[in-house]
Amino acid sequence: MATPTKVTVPALRARKGKGPKISVVTAYDVTFARLFEQGGVDVLLVGDSLGMVVQGQPTTLGVTLDEVIYHGRAVARGTERAHLVGDLPFMSYQTGVVPALEAAGRMLKEGGFEAVKLEGGEIYAEHVHRLVSAGIPVMGHLGLLPQSVHAMGGFKVQGTNAAAADKIVADAKILADAGVYAMVLEAIPAELARRVTQAVSVPTIGIGAGPHCDGQVLVGYDLLGMYSEFKPKFVKRFAEAGKLIVDATRAYVSEVENGEFPTLAHAFGAPKELGAPAEQTGAKPVVPGTAPGYGPAGDER
Ligand code: KIV
Repeated sequence: MATPTKVTVPALRARKGKGPKISVVTAYDVTFARLFEQGGVDVLLVGDSLGMVVQGQPTTLGVTLDEVIYHGRAVARGTERAHLVGDLPFMSYQTGVVPALEAAGRMLKEGGFEAVKLEGGEIYAEHVHRLVSAGIPVMGHLGLLPQSVHAMGGFKVQGTNAAAADKIVADAKILADAGVYAMVLEAIPAELARRVTQAVSVPTIGIGAGPHCDGQVLVGYDLLGMYSEFKPKFVKRFAEAGKLIVDATRAYVSEVENGEFPTLAHAFGAPKELGAPAEQTGAKPVVPGTAPGYGPAGDER
């Protein structure tokens, strides 16, 4: 099979205004990364949303740099074509340009990331400029900033009055001038997202920002219908995988309880000298010298 064409920063930038629109999804482990890759997604984001949907915390604030790197390494192992971005976690860049460079550097060196994302506008222009100058692509993030959840008084729609909307447009231009190659617009009115998208020369990636952005991002568990804590208005579930998993688990529990599973078809046969030949029991024969387990595909399992 031909190697798929890698999604790169220049390739993403080139889609601004031309399309096709950019698809982004969050992933936190190798299995989901592989599945989303097979589904053809352009960008995988190890978002600090992992604090909420993986760790069960109420906000993203507790996520650490080591955790983002850990999940990045796992996702990178399942990623071939997609562009891999990671969130700079809370307090890894707010304290200054040098900590930002150190944190982002670790993410690329140790986490397998190809770019970092940070939240905020004008006050991070110098951070963006220095990171980009060091060869680290930066994705911006404006509108609802989950790392500022307490300052914003909750996960609330932003840019709903003229002054706040103008500030978001101004921040977007400043981030673009500072060198971001794309920016997330989270939870802002659709018309404001259209304004920002028209005002900047880099792709905008919306989440709760309406249909006028250059791309879209969703938390993977949301698009699959697996996160049941709450369902924001902007989420569209493309599957009810949560229900599928619960139903499958119920079926498994029931078959284990009543002895329907496992059968001999799922068992390994006894060595010939100890029992009936595997062909007669329906069990898989044990190949001498092999230890059944989680080896590479094709192993005796
Ligand atoms: O952390 C995250 O998942 C994000 C996306 C919602 C954009 O930042």
